[in-house]
Amino acid sequence: MKRSFDIAELPAGWGYSLLTATVVPRPIAWVSSLSAEGIANLAPHSFFTIASADPPIVQFTSVTEKDTLRNIRATGEFVIGLVTEDLAGAANVTATNFPPGHDEFAEAGIRPEPSRFVRPARVAESPVALECRLERIVEVGNSFLVLGEVLCVALAEEVLDPVRRNGKPHPRYELLRPVSRLGRIQWGLPGDAFDLVRPQFEE
Ligand SMILES: Cc1cc2nc3c(=O)[nH]c(=O)nc-3n(C[C@H](O)[C@H](O)[C@H](O)COP(=O)(O)O)c2cc1C
Repeated sequence: MKRSFDIAELPAGWGYSLLTATVVPRPIAWVSSLSAEGIANLAPHSFFTIASADPPIVQFTSVTEKDTLRNIRATGEFVIGLVTEDLAGAANVTATNFPPGHDEFAEAGIRPEPSRFVRPARVAESPVALECRLERIVEVGNSFLVLGEVLCVALAEEVLDPVRRNGKPHPRYELLRPVSRLGRIQWGLPGDAFDLVRPQFEE
C-alpha cells in the first residue's frame, strides 16, 4: 500500500523536498567557474547527469539564479569535479551563500590547479575534472539546466582500473568512491558495486 502525496495539495516546498529525498543517490557536480572579473567560484550541484553521448554533454541544474549560473553565462566555461568522502566538508562549505566576489576555493581550503582547455581551475584534491564549454542554458520552471560539452576528462591515476590500465583506461568505482546527495541534509557514502552483463535478444 503506497501513500500518495498529490503535489498540488502540498504546502510550498514539500513537493521539492519529497523529490530530492526520493531521487537518490545523486552524484554531486562540484562546479568551478570564473566571474567576468576573474573571481573563482566553486559550488556543489547534485542535479547532475549526462545529457548527450555524442558529443559528450553533461548537465547540472541551478535552482534559481546563482553565482555559478551567472559566471557561466558570462564566460561560457566551467569545470566539474567529483566529491569524495574526505572532500565532503569542504564541498559543503562551498554551498554557503557567500555574496558574489568571494573566492570559494580559498574559503573551503581547496587548492585550484590549472585546466587544459578552459580558464576556470580544477579542484586539485578531486580525482576527477570534466572541463566543459557551455552548450546551452535551458530555463525550466524556477530552474536553469546548464549543458556543457566535455572537452577533457581528467582522472587521477589512482582511480584508474588496474585491470584496464593498458587498454582503454576507465575509472573504477571502488577506487573513485564519490559521495552522493540524498534528501534534506543527508549525504551518501558509496555503496557496493556488482557486474551484470546486459542480455542480447536472439531470434
Ligand atoms: C550536496 C549539495 C548539493 C547541491 N545541489 C544543488 C543543485 O543541484 N542545484 C542548486 O541550485 N543548488 C544546489 N546546492 C546549493 C548550492 O550549492 C548553493 O546554493 C551555493 O551557494 C550556490 O553557489 P553559487 O551561488 O556560488 O553558485 C547544493 C548544495 C549541496 C550541499
